Amino acid sequence: MDTIISASLLSADFSRLGDDIKRAENAGADWLHYDVMDGLFVPSISFGEPVLKYVRASAKIPLDVHLMINDPIRYIDNYASLGAAGITFHVESCDDPAAVIEKIHNAGCKAGISVKPNTPVSVIKSYINDIELILIMTVEPGFGGQSFIESTLDKIAQARELAERSGRRIYIQVDGGINDKTAPLVRKYGADVLVSGSYLFCSEDMKERIIGLRGR
Ligand code: DX5
Ligand code: ZN
Repeated sequence: MDTIISASLLSADFSRLGDDIKRAENAGADWLHYDVMDGLFVPSISFGEPVLKYVRASAKIPLDVHLMINDPIRYIDNYASLGAAGITFHVESCDDPAAVIEKIHNAGCKAGISVKPNTPVSVIKSYINDIELILIMTVEPGFGGQSFIESTLDKIAQARELAERSGRRIYIQVDGGINDKTAPLVRKYGADVLVSGSYLFCSEDMKERIIGLRGR
């Protein structure tokens, strides 16, 4: 199982975003992770559509959009038309996750569903045949640079088991506190898409760090 590295732009230097996008691409990042926060579902506000437009124009690799917003269905078409390859939303953020998944697919994107650290994996069981990605949050969503929550490891294994049992190719993504110490653990428990922000962007040698996260 090849490990995919999704570099989280939340930790990029926004005064030279284009340069940091190139830096991540040249260092070998597979995807760019784009965190949208609304100040309601999570306490902070990050960036939205106007910035994504410029990210899309300068990036060559796929854009992995992570919506941390209430009622995400309202914004699916906008993010899809701005060039997202995949859109992930939180099961806790809406009343009808099936409708959001359908909307994402109709817009031509891969659909991901995410759970916060205290939300059990079982809540996504009924959607397993319709999604392409499960995002297990390994910190409370809202901020970069937090410490990995160890109790999420078992949830990664549960998500991997659900994915295997479905017989479908479903990515198991982790997000939050991913670094050289936690990457081997999450890979061992079954994660194959590692989101990393501060560990990558706050480094002089991003390439070396990406190789380290992949573990080979
Ligand atoms: C947090 C975001 C993450 C964030 C991770 O809510 O979803 O994508 O950028 O940052 P690090 O890797 O610094 O924990
Ligand atoms: Zn994220």
